[in-house]
Amino acid sequence: MNILTYESVSLDENEPALLILDQTKLPGHAEILRLTDIHDIHRAIYTLQVRGAPAIGIAAAFGLYLSARSLSINDYPSFMAALKESRDYLNSARPTAVNLSWALNRVYSAAEASEGKSIPEIIGAMRLEAVAIKDEDTETCRRIGEYGLTLIHDGATILTHCNAGQLATSKYGTALAPIHLGRERGMNFRVYCDETRPLLQGARLTAFELLADGVDTTLICDNMAAQVMKEGRIDAVFVGCDRLAANGDACNKIGTSGLAVLAKYYGVPFYVFCPASTIDMSIQTGAEIVIEQRPAEEVTEMWYSRRMAPDGVKVYNPAFDVTDNGLITGIVTENGIARPPFCESLRNIF
Ligand code: MRU
Repeated sequence: MNILTYESVSLDENEPALLILDQTKLPGHAEILRLTDIHDIHRAIYTLQVRGAPAIGIAAAFGLYLSARSLSINDYPSFMAALKESRDYLNSARPTAVNLSWALNRVYSAAEASEGKSIPEIIGAMRLEAVAIKDEDTETCRRIGEYGLTLIHDGATILTHCNAGQLATSKYGTALAPIHLGRERGMNFRVYCDETRPLLQGARLTAFELLADGVDTTLICDNMAAQVMKEGRIDAVFVGCDRLAANGDACNKIGTSGLAVLAKYYGVPFYVFCPASTIDMSIQTGAEIVIEQRPAEEVTEMWYSRRMAPDGVKVYNPAFDVTDNGLITGIVTENGIARPPFCESLRNIF
């Protein structure tokens, strides 16, 4: 199975249905889920069957279109009221990645902009918008990859965290886009992947995706990053992002901030990769970002053959953390690389 031949999220125009490559089954099985019901789509996002900021935005955009098709309402005000309810419901699946609300608002706005047209025409406009979000993502990621490639040389060694690769987007990924694009051009890289406790996106997804692309891939436990940096093995750290504040504070998978502290200490450049759609100019600093809290079982028993923590222990399981802007060397977007001071450079890019 070459995982790169699968689309992580797409629309089957015939049925129509949302198609998701179930990421909870990887790397063992490549199983495609066919979803039409809004509750199933909400669950797929919450349980990380589809995951990664751009991919959940695309899935939700198709989900809102599919929910509109199932409404069987003929007057515009009632249609929009029901649509708003569906939008807010899908948006509640995960709170941190801004791409979720960004994509839902784009599809909802397409319906608003079609006021005066028939309901089938409005639904048609929503479909076009959702398809555009996915298509644009491929081009955006490719451009992010081009900028990322200017930061590394053939043979470079990168450390990455979680999965900001093709599986998290429509193609290429963000932090992994330079790697995949470079591979298309015959370049070779070495990548160290943090396993990324507790959901193991690095071990299960990034390692799998990179091996499928022929990349020299080494898996490490999260707590080994300091040692590999100290040994001088890493040329740069590349990570994704779920929400970036106007001052450059970057919210990403839990553990990212710790890596940035280590990178600063050991003098390793630390780059955050994200599309402009991940920049939330409405928040000034990372302190305003809502951090998703996940169930305790993800820490105490998931992946183990038996529970590994004593009954009754308290668990704190934030899914994301915020990397302070002062620890970031550059923010790589489809419009260029922002450098400190980020308040100014991000305004220009946005
Ligand atoms: O909880 P996840 O697996 O959805 O978290 C994903 C990340 O943190 C990614 O780094 C981020 O969404 C960027 S994906 C291009």
